[in-house]
Amino acid sequence: MQLTVNGTSHEVDVDPDTPLLWVIREELGLTGTKYGCGIAQCGACTVLVNGVATRSCVTPAESVAGQSISTIETVEETETGRRVVEAWVENQVPQCGYCQSGQVLAATALLTETPQPTDEDIEYAMTNLCRCGTYNKIRAAVRDASEA
Ligand code: FES
Ligand code: FES
Repeated sequence: MQLTVNGTSHEVDVDPDTPLLWVIREELGLTGTKYGCGIAQCGACTVLVNGVATRSCVTPAESVAGQSISTIETVEETETGRRVVEAWVENQVPQCGYCQSGQVLAATALLTETPQPTDEDIEYAMTNLCRCGTYNKIRAAVRDASEA
């Protein structure tokens, strides 16, 4: 099947129901996307599919063939993604860092769709878990990125 990841088309030979996460990590070697729970609960595996935050651990590769898939490795290539990363650095959001690829992509999807989100918008969109409890800093960084 053909998968377009970060603007590059790849022909991958995997079972159609292989989770997108494993194709990204194992076949394409893009290890910025993390495995957390494997059951769509934590968001560590978040990627963008046509700009929408998507949990790749439960997304069959075949279901996104031909779609535009973006991972953390190229998030700064968009204006919104760059602003989000800058806000993350300025606010020193990460602790262990494990959840943060997914958090940054969830924030990028939110601000692309809703450049000036309300607190409720942020609450609704930022559902990724963080075992280090960086939630306050995540919210502060999203607000900073939205004001830029
Ligand atoms: S690893 Fe996909 S949601 Fe947790
Ligand atoms: S920074 Fe450690 S899990 Fe979020």
